[in-house]
Amino acid sequence: MRSHYCGQVTESLLDQEVTLCGWVNRRRDHGGVIFVDLRDREGLVQVVFDPDRADVFATAEHVRNEHVLRIKGLVRARDENAINNKLATGKIEVLGLELEVLNAAETPPFQLDDTDVHDDLRLRYRYIDLRRDEMQQRMKLRSQVTRYLRSYLDENGFWDIETPMLTKATPEGARDYLVPSRTYPGSFFALPQSPQLFKQLLMMSGIDRYYQIVRCFRDEDLRADRQPEFTQLDIETSFMDEDAVMQVNEDMMRGLFKAVLNVDLPNPFPRMTYAEAMLRYGSDKPDLRIPLELIDLAEEMKQVEFKVFSGPANDPNGRIVVLRLPQGGSLSRKEIDAYTDYVGRYGAKGLAWIKVNDVDGGRDGLQSPIVKFLPDEVLASIIEKTGTESGDILFFGAGETRVVNESIGALRVKLGHDRDMVGDEWAPLWVVDFPMFEDDGKHHPFTAPSTTSPDELKSGGSDTLSRAYDMVLNGTELGGGSVRIHDTDMQKAVFEVLNISDEEAEDKFGFLLTALKYGCPPHAGIAFGLDRLIMLMTGASSIRDVMAFPKTQTAACPLTSAPAPVSSAQLKELNLRLRKVETEESKS
Ligand code: AMO
Ligand code: AMP
Repeated sequence: MRSHYCGQVTESLLDQEVTLCGWVNRRRDHGGVIFVDLRDREGLVQVVFDPDRADVFATAEHVRNEHVLRIKGLVRARDENAINNKLATGKIEVLGLELEVLNAAETPPFQLDDTDVHDDLRLRYRYIDLRRDEMQQRMKLRSQVTRYLRSYLDENGFWDIETPMLTKATPEGARDYLVPSRTYPGSFFALPQSPQLFKQLLMMSGIDRYYQIVRCFRDEDLRADRQPEFTQLDIETSFMDEDAVMQVNEDMMRGLFKAVLNVDLPNPFPRMTYAEAMLRYGSDKPDLRIPLELIDLAEEMKQVEFKVFSGPANDPNGRIVVLRLPQGGSLSRKEIDAYTDYVGRYGAKGLAWIKVNDVDGGRDGLQSPIVKFLPDEVLASIIEKTGTESGDILFFGAGETRVVNESIGALRVKLGHDRDMVGDEWAPLWVVDFPMFEDDGKHHPFTAPSTTSPDELKSGGSDTLSRAYDMVLNGTELGGGSVRIHDTDMQKAVFEVLNISDEEAEDKFGFLLTALKYGCPPHAGIAFGLDRLIMLMTGASSIRDVMAFPKTQTAACPLTSAPAPVSSAQLKELNLRLRKVETEESKS
């Protein structure tokens, strides 16, 4: 039907005839001539209809935005003053010789160039939203990325193997999406939160190196970087330790960024322990592009009279930190109040501050509601420890360690963005040596501890580390994995410490425990969030913008109206009966 894509018609085709298919991006009437910008996946080209060709011109008069056209025309140079250097096709135009309206379109619910369309509307008419160049470029890049990843993994001996979607719960810490079984009334499949159990079974099957680009389902609270249905690049290997796994995966990422974005990522990626990340950044996924750090003041504050600081300084579960913002002395009271509200959202009870007007001026050089509570030598020590200069502001966070880390860690990132301090480099990082037993549900119970014997594990307590690793990029957790337990006794010991009873373990993943007994190789793996990777690579602000058909913040699809009620016949067949949905009224 066509000879070229619209975006490919350049001056190399001058004086030639082309046949194009596409959508009307815009039609303009100009003193007797009609201009139509015709658009397809590859770009835009300007088509001109001249009144000399009366029948073609008459048809052109009736085309509207988003009509689908087929045009035969002659490529000719634009007038000097009409050249548009922003367009690949900007030096030429196509003189329309024939015009066929393949399909008319109603007025679209929003204009493609409108940047302020509500998300719900965009998602309801996603097929129109996806016509926008920005979205098309994201879809294209996504396809390039998966192609690169597949070829890299194929070349490195990984086999692409599919695992079931109708399965049993996988422990990744979120709620399951359940599917009722018709053949087993009262029983349910769970959609996989990840292929974790199956990829481990594949190692026990002797597959040695596996990968899959696979959909995962998690019913959890949604954010900009979380969707209920998302895609992992899932990887598992046998006879490789954590160093080998990290090595091959960072090599893959370096290759990917070079091939697709022409970006050189560092070689090797820096590594940081979880403990250091929390200490310096209050986060296990620090954005290293932001040159601000949390500095601990427990020693300085143990003796001070100001209880807000001395309390946490003396509490093993408490923390007191300072965050120095260079040249932050210009912040207004209103701005400081806004930051106080911001940390309040993370549970912080306040945000003490000191403006350092004159670093050599002693107490008089400091402006703050709290200096009166702090002795001279403490003030001097803070200034020295933070390298403070005149014109800076110091922020203080004190309280429960978790709250201080979360609130001041978030403040660090916010200040970095607000004050334009985010470096323009790419900052990948491996975070290693996670705690083995932290109840944030981060690592599944098959992650190997760094302790070597079950007895050592059981006596190790909360200091025990795991052989888990996360890949972080620009402050986003891109992927995570671990060396797995391949020994029955160690697995039992871990369940014991996690308070998982034999019955529960048997019920939930008995099949995996059985498989451990029949010749399980040492194995390790990782999974990356593909949507997050594409989000970072395209600079999109949400993973919704890099998925063709994502869900809303409330886990619904406005396009298909899913989820939706089903007929009573369907329910009956599944042996299900609905409870009355509790409304606010029926509760009271
Ligand atoms: P984990 O739960 O850390 O590990 O998931 C791996 C990566 O998947 C991405 N991710 C998500 N992306 C979008 N929406 C979500 N709701 C979502 N949840 C997770 C993140 C995350 O780093 N089986 C283990 C991996 C392993 O140990 O091999 C697992 O699933 O980028
Ligand atoms: P207050 O004594 O409660 O008036 O607090 C004095 C100063 O300390 C105020 O600037 C508060 O914002 C700040 N502040 C109070 N609680 C905390 C806290 N947990 N961490 C940091 N600063 C705090």
